[in-house]
Amino acid sequence: MTRDARFVTFEGIDGAGKSSHVEWFAERVRERGHRVTVTREPGGTELAEAIRDWVLNRPMSMRVEALLVFAARQDHLDRLIRPALADGTWVVCDRFTDSTVAYQGGGRGMPLEDIALLERWVHPDLQPDRTYLFDLDPETAARRRQAVREADRFESEAVAFFQRVRDAYLARAAEAPARFVRLDGLLPIEAIRTRLVADLSSSTNF
Ligand code: TYD
Repeated sequence: MTRDARFVTFEGIDGAGKSSHVEWFAERVRERGHRVTVTREPGGTELAEAIRDWVLNRPMSMRVEALLVFAARQDHLDRLIRPALADGTWVVCDRFTDSTVAYQGGGRGMPLEDIALLERWVHPDLQPDRTYLFDLDPETAARRRQAVREADRFESEAVAFFQRVRDAYLARAAEAPARFVRLDGLLPIEAIRTRLVADLSSSTNF
């Protein structure tokens, strides 16, 4: 049994470009001979995907939003993330608790100590081994989103909301510099992939 499974997360404001790299990154991990599960939050299990549909599309208070994303996360951890890691399978996850800190904390203004409380309750003993933060200014991200698709509850927020989300991400990254790798969302896709592969080559470090 391989004991070297890693938990890798991708983060960033909507439109920063992370989603085009998640599957690609997982494929590079597979090429190195590891088993990999690709998943996302909110989501990843049947129950958590149902919660996702509510969170993205129905009006609700900030506290309910935070409780629902953590409820989805508990199910995701119990049924998918922890069993995979215990079995030696890498987990590559599109968003995790850093998104809650950034969106519900920074964006909506929920006190960070309340989020920290939920984080300690749901995963006191687990953090991602590596987090790739796609960082982009909110104006450019908004232009990119408009070009692609219809907006959900978060994507239709104003630029000022995403500025707060971005700031909260950067503050969180500054608190855990060994875990986070910041990627400049303005870089061409190929340049970002070069950085991802270089970092993966040093994955014994994370
Ligand atoms: P996203 O990951 O951007 O998926 P898609 O590319 O399909 O739109 O959408 C998830 C949204 O949920 C995103 O706007 C951020 C939000 N979110 C939170 O507000 N809190 C959280 O804890 C998580 C995981 C996501």
